[in-house]
Amino acid sequence: MEAKSLQTFSPFAGSRHVGWKSPSNIALVKYWGKRDYQLPRNPSLSFTLSNSFTETSVEYSYTRKEKPTIAFVFEGKSKKSFKTRVEKYLQTVGVYLPFLKHLDLKIKSVNSFPHSSGIASSASGMSALALCLTSMEQRLFGTPEGRKNFLNKASFLARLGSGSAARSVYGDYVLWGEHAAMEGSMDEAAVQIDIAGKDRWELGDAILITSSEKKKVSSSVGHALMEHHPYAEARYEQARIHIPQLAEAMKTNQDTAFQEIVENEALSLHALMINSNPGFTLMNNNTWSIIEEVREYRKKTGTFVAFTLDAGPNVHLIYRKKDKEQILEFIHSELIQYCENGYWIDDAIGSGPIELN
Ligand code: DP6
Repeated sequence: MEAKSLQTFSPFAGSRHVGWKSPSNIALVKYWGKRDYQLPRNPSLSFTLSNSFTETSVEYSYTRKEKPTIAFVFEGKSKKSFKTRVEKYLQTVGVYLPFLKHLDLKIKSVNSFPHSSGIASSASGMSALALCLTSMEQRLFGTPEGRKNFLNKASFLARLGSGSAARSVYGDYVLWGEHAAMEGSMDEAAVQIDIAGKDRWELGDAILITSSEKKKVSSSVGHALMEHHPYAEARYEQARIHIPQLAEAMKTNQDTAFQEIVENEALSLHALMINSNPGFTLMNNNTWSIIEEVREYRKKTGTFVAFTLDAGPNVHLIYRKKDKEQILEFIHSELIQYCENGYWIDDAIGSGPIELN
């Protein structure tokens, strides 16, 4: 992962520019609990979204100053808390990108979704920035060579910013974390996985916003609480069992198994939060009402639909794209009453990040 030495780095005049658009992702098997520096306690599996993304651009110029300047603008404004996180991140990845200490950076970032929507932006934000940094290395040094190595390094760097961001570097279905039964899997970076019969798994994701309030407990605190959690080992084992089970369910078109695993993952995640010490609750009454409605609707109609949750109260309604019309009707007649100001995001599986000119 080390960048080639700086021998070939020659100062350049003026400024250069790079940009990436990178989507968020939704985990079907959850990452919850980490060790050492941003390594997962268990493997996780997600699909990458399409409409919830971050666009980041980096303008970089050579500097002889001892301490280069970093400017960070989020949606047209400088935001102190984000800037601090970005500065800390750049310091962390400096070991793998030593050329950074010779560059002044102007970073600009915008999200496609409202910042206050309660949608976590660390996966899209950190992956977009990691992709920009990897592109910079590639342009300056010709490394990493080839698309595969490029994406591997981008995922590795994204992981150092936010674990779930490691998965956003790829499109479709993505696995992060080593699993004996999953070839090529590793803890350091994510890999894309092939789901046979993919047409069937062209999924939509309606993100139902039940609250746009800032989370009471951050993901980092939640991960840390797994360290002395009485159910930690059982949870990691559950995720390790769910990964091949889910892959098999998708390969062999077992809709019920898919729904059961995905929903159980979401409920396990929130159960772990509830009985952490100290415990915390991120779900609200509307989250529960939507879950009940989904169960009822599935029983009544037999339609393929499943709910999942991130570390927050908003519900991701997973459905088959071909059933979209019917699902929209379900949302509008039954679910929208539980959404804050009737707000939901119409998203779906996507093919991954795109480089911007
Ligand atoms: C519940 O990736 O946000 O969404 O690594 O501390 O940035 P950090 O945590 P983060 O955790 C996401 C947890 C999750 C499940 C998942 O996406 O797998």
